[in-house]
Amino acid sequence: MPKQNPKKIVLPHSKAKLDLYKSYLSEYLPILGHSKYIDGINVFDIFCGTGIYDDGNLGSPLIAAACVLEYEKYFRERNQKSKPVKLFINDFDTDKVESVNEIISKFEFENCKVNPYNLDASEMLDVVRDKINSFSDRERSLVFIDPYGYSKIDKEKLYQLLKRRRSEIILFLPVAHMKRFTDEALTDYEKKAYENLRKFILDFFDASSRVLQESNLNIFDYIEELRKAFSFDNEFYTASHYIERNKANYYALFFIGHHIYGLEKFIEAKWKNDSLGKGFNQSRNSATLFGESLIEYDKNVSVSRLEQIFRSAIEKSPMSNIELYEFTLSNQFKSAHMNQLIREWKKAKKIQILDMKGNPIEDIRGFGLTYDDYKSKTPSYLIKKR
Ligand SMILES: C[S@@+](CC[C@H](N)C(=O)[O-])C[C@H]1O[C@@H](n2cnc3c(N)ncnc32)[C@H](O)[C@@H]1O
Repeated sequence: MPKQNPKKIVLPHSKAKLDLYKSYLSEYLPILGHSKYIDGINVFDIFCGTGIYDDGNLGSPLIAAACVLEYEKYFRERNQKSKPVKLFINDFDTDKVESVNEIISKFEFENCKVNPYNLDASEMLDVVRDKINSFSDRERSLVFIDPYGYSKIDKEKLYQLLKRRRSEIILFLPVAHMKRFTDEALTDYEKKAYENLRKFILDFFDASSRVLQESNLNIFDYIEELRKAFSFDNEFYTASHYIERNKANYYALFFIGHHIYGLEKFIEAKWKNDSLGKGFNQSRNSATLFGESLIEYDKNVSVSRLEQIFRSAIEKSPMSNIELYEFTLSNQFKSAHMNQLIREWKKAKKIQILDMKGNPIEDIRGFGLTYDDYKSKTPSYLIKKR
């Protein structure tokens, strides 16, 4: 059988990426649509591609457009007006932008304007920065960055998109490729091919980072170091989702945003697309080049890891429900996982639930691990180790 051009069909690892993007958008658009603080939504697709693949699968700009149609329908069915959406598409390939634009022009939106651009990504990121900075305070933006490599991913440019705290980024990176050449990039200054990677590493990691200190990091530690770097010293919430292409090749999607509710929706989308919350893995049950480390990683991000991190956190001091909500999401678990764990540990008398005056509460349904509780800024419970 002739080998298909991976750029013209959607391979399983690309599908995993697009499925997560779709889940996130379809969850988050109605939430933004309901918010009384928001008047408009903007979605930017910096590397939009052709729109439709030879195998009929939709690419990111059409997925976003389809999610916008669903979002409009959702409000129409409730006899409510949906908030306006602006969809910005860009690719440096003119034919691709024209192809996407032509297909999207047939979508019957109620209130969505499509803005096509045909710029190099560096220039487009400046356009996006200027747009985000000119929008009203009551607009929210999502920037989807899906390059082939990493050469256009610049720390300052990312920060410029985020700093106004009105936007979120979903970024896809070829992490295994980056890790494979990191040592060479940091030592071989002669070879031109390493320049972009070296620039990326020195841009995002400081000298104390494990990426610069350790030469035998496994791929999942590498992803974790990237995730931490994207938090810009904990100024933003971040999450990662690894995606296996084949036994030797891994990609990862990263979420970066200022709003904990956005993080929650990304984490829910991540777990929805992968019931173990482990990432997309085509060869989970067979040996991989990463051998032990994959198994170890799977163990780490499984719910048993939640027990371990919760145990060490609660040993240090009791936690309020508000602290626990943030702790759970920052560690990339859902509130539902923590609720279940608390229920079990309460039954096993490993923990005590107290009211804010320190009185034990025996009969309790929920543990206050929701965004509404968090938003209230008023803790209702203390969870304490027995
Ligand atoms: C991974 S593909 C994007 C796939 C697309 N998001 C989808 O879901 O179908 C990367 C795209 O980036 C475009 N591209 C590559 N380098 C670029 C650059 N420097 N500036 C803008 N676009 C670029 C390519 O033409 C290609 O369409």
